[in-house]
Amino acid sequence: MKPLIAPSILSADFGHLNRDIDTVNNSEADWFHIDVMDGVFVPNISFGFPVIKHIKKRAAKPLDVHLMIIDPDRYIEEFRDAGADILTVHYEASVHLHRTLEHIRALGMKAGVSINPHTPVSCLEEILKYTDLVLVMSVNPGFGGQSFIEGSTAKIEKLKDMIIEKQANALIEVDGGVNLHNAPELVYAGADVLVAGNSVFKSDDPAATISKMKKSNHSLPST
Ligand code: DX5
Ligand code: ZN
Repeated sequence: MKPLIAPSILSADFGHLNRDIDTVNNSEADWFHIDVMDGVFVPNISFGFPVIKHIKKRAAKPLDVHLMIIDPDRYIEEFRDAGADILTVHYEASVHLHRTLEHIRALGMKAGVSINPHTPVSCLEEILKYTDLVLVMSVNPGFGGQSFIEGSTAKIEKLKDMIIEKQANALIEVDGGVNLHNAPELVYAGADVLVAGNSVFKSDDPAATISKMKKSNHSLPST
């Protein structure tokens, strides 16, 4: 199976946002990855509802919204209304995660859980069957363009085993420092969705980079 590719709009050129949205629309990408940061859960602030609504109007593909905010329950309906198709909250930011995920699903969205690099996948054991997607952070969240943390691949392998063992259906998404070099090993480890910010938007030809990433396959990566 080919991985789904979710270019991260955080790395787009906000002075030419329509152009970059159209690039994703006209590429082999599958989703728009939308990073929302509150300056509290992570040491950065990104953008909010007006920008997301604009992207939604122009986007021809689903919006995969990654909330890096504390107490996400406060805004779940607003994100649905802004156009989120998949809404992911952080394990570390949610006190009543089960309730939050059920709320997201009840509003018609897919529900995702994200874990920071220091959070073990074993924390997800009880919640796995209530989630449509697990987002494994392979950098400390907050910024685009950081280097991939190597131990993340082993976490994806463990998570894949857990999903099989529990007969769960959650997709595995990996986010942070993903590029054409490490994409094959991530897919081999079990990643279903690759988020890519800088490696797509800072490349000479973003659509071509997306096509190449889409071809990252299950076979052992060449070294
Ligand atoms: C980081 C965000 C990522 C970021 C990825 O906190 O969650 O989605 O945009 O950017 P790259 O691919 O450049 O690491
Ligand atoms: Zn993200």
